[in-house]
Amino acid sequence: MSRIPVGVLGATGIVGQRFVQLLAEHPWFEVTAVAASDASVGRSYIEACHWLLPTPMPEPARDLTVHPVEQMLDCPLLFSALPSDVAGPVEEDLADSGAVVCTNASAHRLDPDVPLLIPEINSNHTVLLDAQRQRRSGRGFIVASANCSATQLAVALKPLHDVFGLLKVSVVTMQAVSGAGYPGVPSLDILDNVLPFIPGEEDKLESEPRKLLGAPGHGRIEDAPFEISAQCNRVPVRDGHTECVSVELEDKATAEEVIAALRSFEASLEVASLPGSPPRPVLVSDEDDRPQPIRDRDTEAGMCVTVGRVRPCPLLDFKFVVLGHNTLRGAAGGSIHNAELLVAQGHLPDLEASL
Ligand SMILES: NC(=O)c1ccc[n+]([C@@H]2O[C@H](COP(=O)([O-])OP(=O)(O)OC[C@H]3O[C@@H](n4cnc5c(N)ncnc54)[C@H](OP(=O)(O)O)[C@@H]3O)[C@@H](O)[C@H]2O)c1
Repeated sequence: MSRIPVGVLGATGIVGQRFVQLLAEHPWFEVTAVAASDASVGRSYIEACHWLLPTPMPEPARDLTVHPVEQMLDCPLLFSALPSDVAGPVEEDLADSGAVVCTNASAHRLDPDVPLLIPEINSNHTVLLDAQRQRRSGRGFIVASANCSATQLAVALKPLHDVFGLLKVSVVTMQAVSGAGYPGVPSLDILDNVLPFIPGEEDKLESEPRKLLGAPGHGRIEDAPFEISAQCNRVPVRDGHTECVSVELEDKATAEEVIAALRSFEASLEVASLPGSPPRPVLVSDEDDRPQPIRDRDTEAGMCVTVGRVRPCPLLDFKFVVLGHNTLRGAAGGSIHNAELLVAQGHLPDLEASL
């Protein structure tokens, strides 16, 4: 069976490398082109890329020549791991020229006609694509993945919002260094230390989950009405973001009912059958000292969110700990999952013919 040819923008960075790693084994997509900055253009991928992952660089990627992003139009499906300031205009131009762009960058996440997608929680948000295609007068469009911390938070909040209604959310994050890209935070700033500020992160965490859990209406997504207060910290962990979350619920519940809601949360049949879907989006741990990044981030190939320590909160109603893998569920894995959903929903008719 042939696979759909795809390109990766920002392929030499941390998230770009995850794309190359995951797509090497993907049943539907195959990386045929890579792009990065002027510093990498014209070199082979193996020369240009400081490979950071524990598995070897996939053989077929090694000899690909790194292109400038503007030359990626031969790939009708693109995965973007560009820095946000670069991604804004580049992704816009590529989509206007007919490409489908699945992006990890923040530039277009809150655009009214851009779906901010997590297949298990809002696969109906692709309804926005009709309006976006019309605006561009063509077949191209952008679909965004959420910020890594917002992704795992929204997955954990979804069952609680559906079953009890959310009124208030307080979240304090402990975010891994790989979330800052490569080379990222200097070692002397992060070793033996905690940085209590990540530029732009708290705004993203206070806005994106409300769009993710919002409802389609009038050509845009109406944000979910609950409030979020976020405090974000960078900690000396390699991969995996940990979040301490407290919630106030609209309908009163017991801890057992909250745990049952989290445990019984399932993807729709359409989403559950996608290659990248974990068996369950949320795994609830009963152990007192879990989740932990080093022990839980790779569960279900890094695509499941682990929740633990669910207990009553004396200020709000309940508190718990959420852990997710920032470059898998929170970045490349999530974007590939979004592209799978687009195929399953028939949004890529020309490309599906090659499957
Ligand atoms: N890291 C995470 O956990 C995470 C999670 C969710 C979302 N994101 C988002 O994903 C994106 C990538 O993050 P990252 O952590 O992978 O960053 P990164 O390690 O710094 O990688 C950046 C990539 O973009 C390329 N690039 C930089 N400037 C460019 C330009 N002017 N033109 C073309 N390419 C350019 C770099 O190429 P060179 O190697 O040639 O410089 C590199 O391939 C960002 O928007 C980030 O916010 C990251």
